[in-house]
Amino acid sequence: MRKEIVNLRKEHANFKRLLTLLDGQLDLLNGEKEPNYQLMTDILYYMTQYADLVHHQKEEAIFSHLLERDSSVEKDVAEVTQQHRTIEKYGANFFEKLDDIINGQRIMPLQEIERTGRLYSTTYRAHLNQENNNLFGLANRILNDEDWKKIEIETLSEPDPIFGEAIKDRFHLVCDQLARSSSDKGKQVWLAP
Ligand SMILES: [Fe+2]
Ligand SMILES: [Fe+2]
Repeated sequence: MRKEIVNLRKEHANFKRLLTLLDGQLDLLNGEKEPNYQLMTDILYYMTQYADLVHHQKEEAIFSHLLERDSSVEKDVAEVTQQHRTIEKYGANFFEKLDDIINGQRIMPLQEIERTGRLYSTTYRAHLNQENNNLFGLANRILNDEDWKKIEIETLSEPDPIFGEAIKDRFHLVCDQLARSSSDKGKQVWLAP
């Protein structure tokens, strides 16, 4: 498999880990323990500033070259591109609400936070699965070296601020929680009969 597709798949797995963390915080809204709004805001910041901008831009360049080679993908490409816009909109809306809560500028019913968060996470997961299941395989098969060279020239190459070589200051809390959730998982596996 092309290294570019392998990377996109890896990024999808990373995004899913973050969405799982986010879902875990949303679960707390129904209990006694308060969710960590700073953690949720940082996750959303990453998803809207890295995933939406850098990852989606790369995909859209890939999909546009794919469309040039095979017009039968038109409907699927139009669909996932529209999903990118929807995800950006939902992400901006959720980020703004979380940011307002942290800054004390807004009081809102817990159900509204949960509804906004769940809509975001389910929409994002469905989108990741759709790309994994269809367009990535086609791009891997159909695009040639020349296409991949053009895609590289046309797209941003920004370092990943959480899963890359250097973790940006803002994301230390997210990284701590990711490490904790991995070790919790390890414990569960070990304890299972
Ligand atoms: Fe995408
Ligand atoms: Fe993607």
